[in-house]
Amino acid sequence: MKIRTFLFLLISSPALLMSAQVDLPTMGWSSWNTYLIDINDSLIKKQADAMVKSGLKDAGYRYINIDDGYFGGRDPKTGQLLIHPTRFPNGMKPVVDYIHSLGLKAGIYSDAGANTCGNMYNNDTIAANVGFYGHEMQDAEFFFNTLGFDFIKVDFCGAQSIGNRQHRCYEPQERYTAISNAIKATGRDDVRLNACRWDYPGTWISDVAASWRISEDIQNEWKSVKNIINQSLYLSPFAGGGHYNDMDMLEVGRSMSPEEDRTHFGMWCIMASPLLIGCDLTSLKPETLELLTNPEVVALNQDPLGLQAYVAKRDGDTYVLVKDIENLNGNVRAIAFYNPTDEPKELSIDFSDIQLGGNVQVRDLFARKDLGKKLTSFSQTIPAHGLGLYRLEADERLMRGLYEAETAFLPTYQELYNPIAIGTPTHDQDERCSGGVKVTRLGHRASNDIRWRDVIVPDDGDYRLSFRYLADKKVRLYVQANDGEATQLNLDPSDGFETVEVVMPLKKGDNEVRLFNEYQWLPELDYMKVEKISE
Ligand code: GAL
Repeated sequence: MKIRTFLFLLISSPALLMSAQVDLPTMGWSSWNTYLIDINDSLIKKQADAMVKSGLKDAGYRYINIDDGYFGGRDPKTGQLLIHPTRFPNGMKPVVDYIHSLGLKAGIYSDAGANTCGNMYNNDTIAANVGFYGHEMQDAEFFFNTLGFDFIKVDFCGAQSIGNRQHRCYEPQERYTAISNAIKATGRDDVRLNACRWDYPGTWISDVAASWRISEDIQNEWKSVKNIINQSLYLSPFAGGGHYNDMDMLEVGRSMSPEEDRTHFGMWCIMASPLLIGCDLTSLKPETLELLTNPEVVALNQDPLGLQAYVAKRDGDTYVLVKDIENLNGNVRAIAFYNPTDEPKELSIDFSDIQLGGNVQVRDLFARKDLGKKLTSFSQTIPAHGLGLYRLEADERLMRGLYEAETAFLPTYQELYNPIAIGTPTHDQDERCSGGVKVTRLGHRASNDIRWRDVIVPDDGDYRLSFRYLADKKVRLYVQANDGEATQLNLDPSDGFETVEVVMPLKKGDNEVRLFNEYQWLPELDYMKVEKISE
């Protein structure tokens, strides 16, 4: 290619431009799943060696993360954090230096409170009072400037009243913000903070962490993988801009079936979760290595747009998920056919439902094989607990007409506190709704609104926006597009779901549509439809 054409492509491709901007999901290895607190320096170094020798480093895996188990208490006089005297007899510095000497990055673990989870639940008595609480700056300096770590996972056991002997109980937002500020104050701006609070914490977390856990600990069994996938199905609006929902460390290569391992890994990839391998890298089975290094599946996770897939179709207990890859709103998309049931199922998608038009070239990413061009739709039989991942390249990208409420950004969404008690929205199952899910408990506060932030239309002009809702009493609904004036809609109580419409100007490209009412609760919402009004 001539240099001029190449430069033009570089400048004109949004994906390439974005790749310079967003951090991609963390890829690496973590000690917890296989070793729990039974870790030591030679074990960690051997895993780092194996990361390089196996080819995992070349496939993109970079971080060697030391989880719980390395603590050695604190110096009672200075408060200095100590390293376990027999597990790491030479301290941590040589281990970090060794990891770095291999061209890898090093990760460590702490707690937002005083005690760690290992201290509470794994009887690691030496690990009392070793968390960040009261030692934020001192520990951040030690981890990131003295030792040179590049990543930290911050757990929450010691910050919960049941998790520590002093019955201390802290606010996650306050704790993670203080820790994030302490990390920034070290002068290191490249440290990745992972918040481990076991449920989606709230949209504030994107301001403080690179990634955050959304579930309790993963277990080495299919039921656990399926549960975590269920919990992340409607969290895509909260990932993005280099910040990710963390579905937990991988159990791939331990003892699930090959099909389950593929589904587990493939879903973590398309959902843009961090990929932290949890098995012993020194004894990888060939099929495990092949799966973890499949370049086309890994590329889905490391796609420069950094997007998490959303549910485009639900059919019984099976799902089709989709996300843009390579270019935003371009002709290439990736889909997952996810069958968590115990029977093989035929899954299908109409291309128009995922905004692809004309001929669509389908590529199977697990098999790394082109399946040929298809017109209008595509179907495959997916085994029990199975997954198909496909790259679709279409002649045209069509305008999206249907925006499910459960794919919208909800600024107050959180899973830490009882949503009824504090008035925050939830994604609720309702078989009367398209996709089987609705959003409830919006409104009553200006901030408790719903925003479709990715309404992309082809031209400036007037568009009909229709909302499917269920109102149990008379209610006003305000609709606003971008910074325009809001339109008031008056809804009557209804027995079943009804539709209300409004015509609003939208601009060519990206728009945000917002529904709000700061005084009343909003109706339950199923979806929004967007149609161009023909001239
Ligand atoms: C849990 C955490 C696990 C692991 C463990 C260490 O709270 O979710 O991933 O880090 O603590 O004790």
